[in-house]
Amino acid sequence: MRASILLLGLAVAACAADPAVIEKGRKEEQRTCLPCHSLRIIHTNRLSRAGWNKELDKMAGWGTTYSDREAVLEYLVATYGDDKPVAPPAISADGRTKK
Ligand code: HEC
Repeated sequence: MRASILLLGLAVAACAADPAVIEKGRKEEQRTCLPCHSLRIIHTNRLSRAGWNKELDKMAGWGTTYSDREAVLEYLVATYGDDKPVAPPAISADGRTKK
């Protein structure tokens, strides 16, 4: 029992770190999120796995369809997780220069 839980944990960890899955998620994001809004509104967030999961449900409620929801989730958690540094501002402090 304990060994199977450990193995499951390892499998999940291995899957989450899989660059192929992350890349798939990145492409899926472009395909399915871009028709409605820019990626910036997504990429300025830093959310936990539960937070991203909720966000994907919310977008589904507004009509988003997923061909690989799991991959988008893994991509978002791995790239814009709440353990990642905050996004740089769109404009500089004086509001004039674009970053
Ligand atoms: C059917 C249209 C639609 C699609 C497709 C869509 N969104 Fe959204 N999304 C919205 C709307 C509408 C808002 C609110 C925009 C605003 O507040 O200006 C929003 C806002 C957001 C926000 C900002 C926080 C919030 O909840 O308001 C995030 C993050 C987000 N979307 C993520 C995603 C992701 C990730 C995808 C692709 C998996 C996606 N969206 C696809 C319509 C969509």
